[in-house]
Amino acid sequence: MALDQFPPDLVPVRTADGSHTLDSRALKEHYHSLHGAAAESRHVYIANGLLATGRQELRILEIGLGTGLNVLLTWIECGRRGWKADYVALEPFPLPERLWSALGHPAALGALGRQNGYDAMMRARAGEQILPGDGFTFRWERGLVQHIRYVEELDLVYYDAFSPAVQPDMWTKAVFDGLCRAMRSGARLVTYCAKGSVRRAMMEAGLEVQQLPGAPGKRQMTGVQRQ
Ligand SMILES: C[S@@+](CC[C@H](N)C(=O)[O-])C[C@H]1O[C@@H](n2cnc3c(N)ncnc32)[C@H](O)[C@@H]1O
Repeated sequence: MALDQFPPDLVPVRTADGSHTLDSRALKEHYHSLHGAAAESRHVYIANGLLATGRQELRILEIGLGTGLNVLLTWIECGRRGWKADYVALEPFPLPERLWSALGHPAALGALGRQNGYDAMMRARAGEQILPGDGFTFRWERGLVQHIRYVEELDLVYYDAFSPAVQPDMWTKAVFDGLCRAMRSGARLVTYCAKGSVRRAMMEAGLEVQQLPGAPGKRQMTGVQRQ
């Protein structure tokens, strides 16, 4: 099944670290690794993304808001460190509340104090600015990565698309050309994906590719630097 509509059969599933994700039988895909959704997000996007930028004030673009796990972890981490982030997420298929709320991300992360802020971000209308606290700003746009028009504005990109097997059009040189244009010099992009053809597309777009150790259960992930 190609992804031209909201996955019709999403169900919550528990992953190895006790956090939950969504599974679609029709797509043969889940939103996070079954080896640990929270562990994967922390490793790929926080440890190798946010913390590797060396910046305490940054503009972040996430490709695929999904269940909001990455934005919640980023808000928590920036809050702890006193960092300022302006976070924009793209999402063509926003999830209904019954699905994201069933996952219990704030409780799984031991961050029930952030439940209201998480709910506010996930309930926001497209384009609505949310200030959940700690100087963090968030909005999501009903956009496709293929149509982004930023020019040298981003410090960090979380590339959390469905896999190349499910959405090959998300992993092309043309998409990475657009992201490369959108990133400032020295900006960083991270993704769980370590496929050779994806890395070649990134390199052809002029990005400097690093092979990094993967999240639990995965050998490698990819980090990318804009020259
Ligand atoms: C792996 S999930 C993201 C998980 C999410 N980051 C989280 O923390 O829960 C991939 C997401 O990309 C979204 N997506 C699909 N096509 C897209 C496109 N063309 N541009 C941006 N996002 C897209 C999907 O709807 C889905 O929510």
